[in-house]
Amino acid sequence: MAPMALPTSGAAPREKNFPMKVDLEARQKDDQIVWEDCAQTYEEQVVEGHPDIRSAESLEEEWLGHLLRKRSWQRPEQIHVVEAGCGSARVLAQLAAAATQTEDLEPTDRKLLQAYRRLRPEGAFHSAWAQTCGKMVGVDFSRSMLALAEERFSRIGLSRWIQSRRVQLIHGSAFQLPPTAPGQPWVICLLNSIGVMQGEEGARALLRSVRQAAGASGVGFISAYRAEAMETHGLNQYESTLEVAGIPDWLEGDVPTGCRARARQTPRAGEAQEVLPVDWVDESGALTGHGELRRQPDRVRQVCLTGQVRTRSGYQSRWYPWSQMAQLVRDEWGEAGWQISPGRLDRLRGRPLQWLWFDPTGWIRESLG
Ligand SMILES: C[S@@+](CC[C@H](N)C(=O)[O-])C[C@H]1O[C@@H](n2cnc3c(N)ncnc32)[C@H](O)[C@@H]1O
Repeated sequence: MAPMALPTSGAAPREKNFPMKVDLEARQKDDQIVWEDCAQTYEEQVVEGHPDIRSAESLEEEWLGHLLRKRSWQRPEQIHVVEAGCGSARVLAQLAAAATQTEDLEPTDRKLLQAYRRLRPEGAFHSAWAQTCGKMVGVDFSRSMLALAEERFSRIGLSRWIQSRRVQLIHGSAFQLPPTAPGQPWVICLLNSIGVMQGEEGARALLRSVRQAAGASGVGFISAYRAEAMETHGLNQYESTLEVAGIPDWLEGDVPTGCRARARQTPRAGEAQEVLPVDWVDESGALTGHGELRRQPDRVRQVCLTGQVRTRSGYQSRWYPWSQMAQLVRDEWGEAGWQISPGRLDRLRGRPLQWLWFDPTGWIRESLG
């Protein structure tokens, strides 16, 4: 992994003229600790876990794959994919799979890739994409997430992509993306990563870094949840994954000392539950008892309105309201940016999402109609 691009530890004095910048750096450092800590649980309970989250992921994977393949049929120019907040490289791995012919692999890797493709049809080989697929870079500030990414490539028989450095996993900030080789950059940021990137100031920094990395002929794609879906989708998702970032502060109830709460059910989108049955587990993960947490109606109303989530430990994330995101896109991307409700493409899977495109050439708008 390449060296860390984050600012060094907190000794720097707060510059009076740039308080926002210093705050953003401080928030990155705080959040980084959370992500180092929760990587494995996040992977199990979110990325590969909750069925509604898997469904949003599959829509991202399907449309991104579709657009990349379409573009590859049209033009032979190399495409370099850069992912900000790549996590365990769910999508980069899929794109590498689709550019790999099993005949080129050793027998063991071949079997692993075939097994992966049976579960993820988007990873099927595509000859035009294989020819245009250039280098891929994933940037994340959590070393634990990047270790999971590397593991994923070996697990599916594609470690040669890492060894040859055709895929680079960089430990760094999403706000400082590296330049790409000559060709067309596609800069992506998926699964509401923008909502966990240190508040509005972080979201703006991300939009700027995507614009810069994509340049005048590239593409930027950000997939995010929207606050309007917090009531139907968000509350349940946070309540089902309590061990990832902690108990959301709209839930009332005492937790026994030395224990954490684990949800006993995975309610799906639209299933409202006022009382959440939980298991209490100790530090080693052993079950110590049962209990319940209860929604606090005023706080729930506020969260649904603003999309701003806070856990009892103070960790914050967001599902941005559509209009707030529209404003951010206008401010940071100007005419080159636009926003789409992917519910238009797929009503069921797309409803909780909003997609932002940095599209200076207009090719994406034309392709999505
Ligand atoms: C919601 S996860 C998404 C993971 C992956 N993109 C996916 O779709 O499966 C967000 C990721 O962003 C990373 N992250 C959050 N803030 C970041 C920042 N400022 N710079 C780099 N990575 C960041 C976290 O470590 C985490 O891996």
